[in-house]
Amino acid sequence: MKKRKLIAVFLALSAIVFLAGCRDGAPAVTVGTETDALTTDAITQTEPVTEPATETETETETETETSPPPETEPAPEPIPDPVPEPIPEPIPDPAPEPIPEPIPDPAPEPDPEPAPPVQAGYTRNGFPIEVRDGLTYIGGILIVNKTYSIPSWYDPGGMTAECASAFYSMCSAASAEGIGFYSISDYRSYSLQSWLYQTYVDRDGQAAADTFSARPGHSEHQTGLAIDVNSTTQWFADTPEGQWLAAHCWDYGFIIRYPAGKEWATGFIYEPWHIRYVGTALSIPLRDSGQTLEEYLGIDSVYN
Ligand code: DAL
Ligand code: ZN
Repeated sequence: MKKRKLIAVFLALSAIVFLAGCRDGAPAVTVGTETDALTTDAITQTEPVTEPATETETETETETETSPPPETEPAPEPIPDPVPEPIPEPIPDPAPEPIPEPIPDPAPEPDPEPAPPVQAGYTRNGFPIEVRDGLTYIGGILIVNKTYSIPSWYDPGGMTAECASAFYSMCSAASAEGIGFYSISDYRSYSLQSWLYQTYVDRDGQAAADTFSARPGHSEHQTGLAIDVNSTTQWFADTPEGQWLAAHCWDYGFIIRYPAGKEWATGFIYEPWHIRYVGTALSIPLRDSGQTLEEYLGIDSVYN
């Protein structure tokens, strides 16, 4: 019984399928357009009519015959343009560092008292100091005082020729005016000066003696360029001879070596009778300057 039902169902289904196949194929033989004919031919050639296609196949073929050309592959989703990277704001060039104003060097502090231009071998006033055979020449002048000594062996043998010549010329000129000069002491040897100085020390003490008598080796008399004229007393300055000497010795190359009030510079008290020959090239400027030899040359006169 069950088997019969199955057969009946099968047959019924077969009949349905057959009838459906005839219905689906009818349009194929009735459509006459050229395009359809071609399509029909294509179908006839590829699919025999005698073999009914399954429903699935038929639907596929129908779609082939009547449907527009198969759809192309779905267009891919458009790839969105990448979001453009935001253009960064241009970073402005950093403002250039301002060029600092150059800081001027501070003005040097002026020295409260400009130091004299003392250099090795030069005096404060720029005169060259030369020592030859123990003798010191400053500005070309032989210098003997409390600072600069003269060797014990130095002995010119008396007044130098230059000094003597100048002295005699001065004596002649003074004599023409009624003034008589003579030397009471000029060249003195080292040993004679030693005896003289010690005599004063024994009499007055060294401190007092040092104000008017030079220690041995520090007396200008040893140079043969110094002369004590007429008297060794202070009041000689007030005599006609003393007045004439002070006024005219410069013209013959002599200077009043130890003027009044200049002990601080020369180291010795006023000696209006003591003249020193330096030549007129120096005696005239010294007269005009009113300076002592120490002041003019820029040197000291102190015992070390
Ligand atoms: N009366 C001078 C300073 C001397 O002794 O040389
Ligand atoms: Zn003297």
